[in-house]
Amino acid sequence: MSILFSPITINDTTLKNRIVMAPMCMLKSDDEGFVKDFHLVHYGARAIGGVGLIILEATSVSKEGRISDLDLGIWSDEHIAGLKILCGVIQGQGAKAGIQIAHAGRKSMVKGIPLSCSNVIDDSRYATPKEMTQSDIDMVKEEFLNGVRRAASAGFDVIEIHGAHGYLINQFLSPITNKRTDQYGGSLENRARFLKEILESIRSIYKGTLCLRISATDYKEEGLKVLDYIELFKSVQNIDIISVSSGGVIDDLDLDVFEGYQVPLASTIKNATSIPVGAVGMINTPEFAESILKENKADLILLGRELIRSPNWSIKASYELGIESSINFAYKRAYLK
Ligand SMILES: Cc1cc2nc3c(=O)[nH]c(=O)nc-3n(C[C@H](O)[C@H](O)[C@H](O)COP(=O)(O)O)c2cc1C
Repeated sequence: MSILFSPITINDTTLKNRIVMAPMCMLKSDDEGFVKDFHLVHYGARAIGGVGLIILEATSVSKEGRISDLDLGIWSDEHIAGLKILCGVIQGQGAKAGIQIAHAGRKSMVKGIPLSCSNVIDDSRYATPKEMTQSDIDMVKEEFLNGVRRAASAGFDVIEIHGAHGYLINQFLSPITNKRTDQYGGSLENRARFLKEILESIRSIYKGTLCLRISATDYKEEGLKVLDYIELFKSVQNIDIISVSSGGVIDDLDLDVFEGYQVPLASTIKNATSIPVGAVGMINTPEFAESILKENKADLILLGRELIRSPNWSIKASYELGIESSINFAYKRAYLK
């Protein structure tokens, strides 16, 4: 029996399988952050290709919070219409639709002075950030809340908060980037306050399926470690999925990456919490994906680059695993011997 192709219900969302498209910035929007034909075709193709849940790329809660000026945006009500169409395209082809809501903080490459918890520069590609005041913090919290409200009204099944890869929430969490001396800095409890306040305010308006993406390690002695996250998840229980990635606070790491290199992080977090966990990172074959689930190291398998290479990965995988696929009748003849 395949676990990869068995359904799973999380909160109010039932996925037809455990295959998730990881969020990946496509740099195909425009300076206003609107959905383009590219997005409809790109995400629609992966939905036809049998993915259970498609999580849209980092979609910015503010114009200043974009990673680049070609990111999707959700900072105004005008963004809802395009996102709603995209959502409908994905859902119409049998997948659930998710969206990653993000703020780049100091890793914004758009014109202007980026915001961060402290005025610690990342590297020469970025400007020195402005240390956020309490009113900046309140403003960004409100931006996340509005982003979630808009995503829900566009019809997304899953909303993911980008807490990973060294972007704003991760900047608050990590002692490498957070040098504050007020209630948002210092102890892990204080560094997590920004994230917790965002999640709490979201939960006051949104009861649907909420995912948090984290970088479970900074790969630095002085940075965040998976044990910090285990501590964090003792008090952060108002999320439905934890998507476990790593890195990004320090960009110039010479990391040894290999098949499933982040799976042990996902597995460690899964063992310590009761919240469903997604594993990601060079999980490219159906056999490997299946083994991660069978060994109970994760509940969901996220694929990034492999789904760029192979939009129909899920259909092919179902045949390779010997499952009489009901994924997409139209494509069946291409896979039958
Ligand atoms: C082109 C590209 C864009 C990405 N953009 C995002 C993003 O918007 N948000 C995010 O959390 N991760 C992003 N990632 C990271 C992926 O979600 C994923 O974690 C990473 O590629 C590792 O998985 P893989 O080995 O299956 O590709 C991006 C990766 C790639 C290759």
